[in-house]
Amino acid sequence: EKADVGVLGLGTMGAMLALNFAEKGFHVGLFNRTAEKATRLRDDNPELGGRLHPARSVEAFVAALQSPRVIVLMVNAGRAVDDQLDVLMPLLDKGDIVIDAGNTDFNDTVARNRRWETSGIHFVGMGVSGGELGARHGPSIMVGGDREVWQRLRPLLEPISAKYEGEPCVAWLGPDGAGHFVKTIHNGIEYADMQMIAEIYGIMRDGMGLRPSEMATAFAAWNTRGLSSYLIEITSVVLAETDPKTGAPMVDVIVDEAGQKGTGRWSVIEAQRLGVGATTIEAAVSARSVSSLRGERVASARIYEDVRPAAAGFDRGGAGLAELEAALETAKIIAYAQGYAVMAAASKEYGWNLPLGEIARIWRAGCIIRSVFLQDITRAYETSNEVVNLLQESSFAKRVSGGQQALRNVVAKAALAGIPVPALSAALAYFDDYRRSRGTANLIQGQRDLFGAHTFRRLDEDGIHHHQWPAV
Ligand code: 6PG
Repeated sequence: EKADVGVLGLGTMGAMLALNFAEKGFHVGLFNRTAEKATRLRDDNPELGGRLHPARSVEAFVAALQSPRVIVLMVNAGRAVDDQLDVLMPLLDKGDIVIDAGNTDFNDTVARNRRWETSGIHFVGMGVSGGELGARHGPSIMVGGDREVWQRLRPLLEPISAKYEGEPCVAWLGPDGAGHFVKTIHNGIEYADMQMIAEIYGIMRDGMGLRPSEMATAFAAWNTRGLSSYLIEITSVVLAETDPKTGAPMVDVIVDEAGQKGTGRWSVIEAQRLGVGATTIEAAVSARSVSSLRGERVASARIYEDVRPAAAGFDRGGAGLAELEAALETAKIIAYAQGYAVMAAASKEYGWNLPLGEIARIWRAGCIIRSVFLQDITRAYETSNEVVNLLQESSFAKRVSGGQQALRNVVAKAALAGIPVPALSAALAYFDDYRRSRGTANLIQGQRDLFGAHTFRRLDEDGIHHHQWPAV
């Protein structure tokens, strides 16, 4: 019997996806550069083994798949994808489908769609979120590519996807790069979310002098309310953990340098290209970069004197924690509004017609940013046909109006205490700019017109104007 689907690349994510397919009853062809990995995956999973079919060569792998073939590539984004495609494509027939399920730069996906357009083989860029456990038991899946291809993929992808109240968290989002673009912005939002949580942790540690176990309790409580989400849940788990070696809180023995593989940075680059302010994501990416300069930070702490704990005027009791909770919730709404604004702009720019409500719907379960809050975004798009910006939707406007003072207080106190809150303050600054009817760009226009005759528009008259400024 031939396999229903093939998985090529059996690293953690590929292996977990293969097991997920097999568990849902599909026969799965397996191939990995080191072929033993494929055999081992079958042997280590005897209960699913009958549906896992390791191949010793790419040729044998391709031959073992039912036609038209569906192949899921799960290799490192970048060169490895092109190298694999060069080997794989000549072995395939018209009508076959190759899916790149990695965290690929959508620009590469657009280029690959173009490159293979005339081959008759369908190339699909697909975002998969949920980490290892998600891939194994139900990820959120963002599909790009030709719409007809989606009809063929649907019966394979719906069973393996996460479910939110029974609804599969997988959708076709648009042609060529749409799926990978949306996955990139998902990760950008993930970065902003994680950074803002880390900033709140910084206030709890340096501004309130709380112990990690006390912080864990606070986050666990927040996880039962408006902030309820996977990231808040795991924050509380991480903070509650004890290091088996020293008995100290685990979080206290981990080096304060964050890694990053590129998707956060791409979100910011694409936002800038589209002319959209995604300042919370930008702050999060930059903060990871600064985090990696540990040696320089330690040296600077000696020059300028370190952050002084507990000099901050933060109340470490219930009222103080409630203020942090409200501030985080408010900043989170602003960050998501920015991420959605980037997607809306990309949708227009690339003619993708991205289904923004559908995106919130498939992010409600399976992915890293899954949260109660995504149900609210889903609802906002269901109730309004023309969402200009989430900050203008009544349910969010009400929450931001209610929470903005808390965000203001937290950012102000943190600034006075020298506790960095780059993403929270970016959220606040963006909000204040976004809700101000008379901005300050009139001065910039004056400067531009003075030094470069760039012209400006007038409030009281149509048309383009230039002023004879005094010579400087
Ligand atoms: C997911 C994650 C996953 C991974 C990212 C972020 O949605 O399952 O986003 O794709 O964690 O690659 O990784 P970095 O933090 O290493 O950039």
